[in-house]
Amino acid sequence: MAYSRLVLALSALALAGVVVNADVQLHADDDDAWLRKDFRRNMIAEAGNAAYKHETVHCDPKAVGSVAGCFDQNIPAVGNIDYKFGAPQVSYPTDGSPWGVHLTGPYPDGRTYLVSWYVGAPTIGASVMRPDVCGLKTYAAVRKAGAKGWTKHTGSVVNYLRAYTDPALVNGTYLSPQIHHVVLPHLDPNTFYYYQVADMNGQLMGEYRFKTLPGPGSKSVYPLRVGLIADVGQTVNSSDTRDHLMANKPQVVILVGDNSYADNYGALSPDDLDGSGTNQQRWDTYQQLWQPLFSTVPILNCAANHELETEGIPAVINNTTTSFSFPTNYPFQSYSARFPVPGTTSNFGDITQNLYYSTIIAGKVKLITMNNYVPFHKGTPQYQWAMKEFASVDRKMTPWLFVQFHAPPYHTYFTHYKEMDCFMSIWEDVFYEYGVDLVFNGHVHAYERTHPMYKYKPDSCGPIYITIGDGGNVEGPYRNFVDEINPNNNKTYCEALQTGGKSPVALAASNPSGWGPGYQRQAHAPGCPTVTFQPATSVDNGILVPSNMTAAGQPAMGFCQNSQPTWSAHRDPSFGHAILELQSDSVARFSWYKNLEGNAVSMDDVVLERLGACASRMPSSEMMMGRRMMSA
Ligand SMILES: *[C@@H]1O[C@H](CO)[C@@H](O)[C@H](O)[C@H]1NC(C)=O
Ligand SMILES: *[C@@H]1O[C@H](CO)[C@@H](O)[C@H](O)[C@H]1NC(C)=O
Ligand SMILES: *[C@@H]1O[C@H](CO)[C@@H](O)[C@H](O)[C@H]1NC(C)=O
Ligand SMILES: *[C@@H]1O[C@H](CO)[C@@H](O)[C@H](O)[C@H]1NC(C)=O
Ligand SMILES: *[C@@H]1O[C@H](CO)[C@@H](O)[C@H](O)[C@H]1NC(C)=O
Ligand SMILES: *[C@@H]1O[C@H](CO)[C@@H](O)[C@H](O)[C@H]1NC(C)=O
Ligand SMILES: [Fe+2]
Repeated sequence: MAYSRLVLALSALALAGVVVNADVQLHADDDDAWLRKDFRRNMIAEAGNAAYKHETVHCDPKAVGSVAGCFDQNIPAVGNIDYKFGAPQVSYPTDGSPWGVHLTGPYPDGRTYLVSWYVGAPTIGASVMRPDVCGLKTYAAVRKAGAKGWTKHTGSVVNYLRAYTDPALVNGTYLSPQIHHVVLPHLDPNTFYYYQVADMNGQLMGEYRFKTLPGPGSKSVYPLRVGLIADVGQTVNSSDTRDHLMANKPQVVILVGDNSYADNYGALSPDDLDGSGTNQQRWDTYQQLWQPLFSTVPILNCAANHELETEGIPAVINNTTTSFSFPTNYPFQSYSARFPVPGTTSNFGDITQNLYYSTIIAGKVKLITMNNYVPFHKGTPQYQWAMKEFASVDRKMTPWLFVQFHAPPYHTYFTHYKEMDCFMSIWEDVFYEYGVDLVFNGHVHAYERTHPMYKYKPDSCGPIYITIGDGGNVEGPYRNFVDEINPNNNKTYCEALQTGGKSPVALAASNPSGWGPGYQRQAHAPGCPTVTFQPATSVDNGILVPSNMTAAGQPAMGFCQNSQPTWSAHRDPSFGHAILELQSDSVARFSWYKNLEGNAVSMDDVVLERLGACASRMPSSEMMMGRRMMSA
């Protein structure tokens, strides 16, 4: 009730265009008075048409081919197949000219970008060896639009060998083409640049163009258009999403992981979706399909489960993994070699430094990119790194604070429901404490946006979570919500939720850390809670089976709900992309564009404004540690 009153008040304020003084006294109490005010953000209020709505759009039989398809994920959606190997959209030249050109950036200094590309073709076969390319140099040149001279930069060549140890797959052993990386430093902000990249003989070729982002000190940063996609793949739906996004003119694209879906293919054939080992050639075709976007707009990528690629090799990640050897046969091998994270200037492809990163966009946005598939609990390198990153955020410099990681903690789709409860048991309080504005996720091939929230309840000081995993990949759109009735059995989808044959309730009793797929659980510390129940107050209309478990001393709680929960703002099981347009230090407009009969149609459009102030939650000892690091 308090929530709806607040909502009405805020909407009214927003409609009346009233600006509330952002410097309202924080109601800090003695416990958190030590906190620096800029550790917290002012709350984000929703304004405009979609403010504080709860909207559910159901699967469209036309989009997936049939009514039956809407209730059966195993029925492939119409036309949702990868471009055939050899199709012109995904073919690359083998004559030594560059292909698969892609930009990464901006680097944290705001002036540096990385350009990467391929030369030649991969070599495939049981006896392939990895030649040493460490000594090879490569080149790229940049020229400011309107200027005459080119500035040449020198870079590095890397390659990698996917040497299957599974005897059934050895004939699929894959040596990558040459992967060229050149750092482009000292670029002027907000400036069009032409660039060229070297072929196999070092000859500069082509003429690509991109515009640098506004930088630290730029006079006009806003409006700043950030594109958002994830789980993109290489189908006709993928290239639709690509073209829609390009038409929407993003200045930078956040790609929340799951790029090529190469691991859905057999190692022996790039056209055989038998999933027996990952087909690296599908990374090559992916790079060609996305080149029109990736070579013209800098990408901020994220390592995800389809980047893990542990099939057919003796490599695992577990709760003790801290680092990897390089360069043969490791998880995230292809991703790291192809998409070194912003900030990398040497040892390109070394996966140890390419699993997570932070950067600053246009001097105004701190983006922290985490990896929920490598250990993230206390005592791990990722934990140490991320706590430092959060502690070093200065909201006066970067008023916006975004976090991306692949799997969504808050969504209501059947597949991947509540996979992230262990992660959130460690990180949700940190996000809250540091006033994260927006959390971007993928993984779920559908769209969902939440209201600002905290622990399964709307909370104007918590982040908004955006699941944007609907880029168009071959696995198809997700179709069903946990609270939806499945006409095949007249039960809710929630009732079918299980891991290893056990329902959440059964797991809660026997193995509370057992919920979710193995590739997620392997990163978990032992005993990390994965089966948790949400408060009844987050549910509109009562609680569903299998959520009747009431732990001693706790209020009635639920694993799922039987309607769209109060914290979910808009959900639609369709492909699409989003544009986040930052309009000032305190106002942003977020729009999700659905792929609808070949067009991009804006379906969820909300203005986010900072209004009023947030009280802070109790600091944990880590946060106090972070504060000490700040003042040190
Ligand atoms: C994928 O693209 C095909 C061909 O354009 C289209 O028929 C289909 O509806 C799209 N699928 C979805 C889920 O948008
Ligand atoms: C690998 O290829 C060779 C030569 O074509 C063939 O004789 C062998 O049976 C293949 N091995 C497997 C495991 O498919
Ligand atoms: C974790 O992985 C490392 C490196 O692959 C391995 O040495 C270790 O035995 C593994 N530990 C467990 C508990 O599986
Ligand atoms: C589900 O319920 C409807 C309406 O009561 C009924 O017509 C239908 O046969 C039921 N389907 C199944 C699979 O039980
Ligand atoms: C890793 O997991 C294993 C098996 O669950 C457990 O015995 C071990 O204590 C864990 N190690 C760490 C460092 O968390
Ligand atoms: C409540 O949970 C128990 C234990 O899982 C189950 O046996 C029972 O059928 C459930 N009751 C209802 C009304 O859902
Ligand atoms: Fe995923």
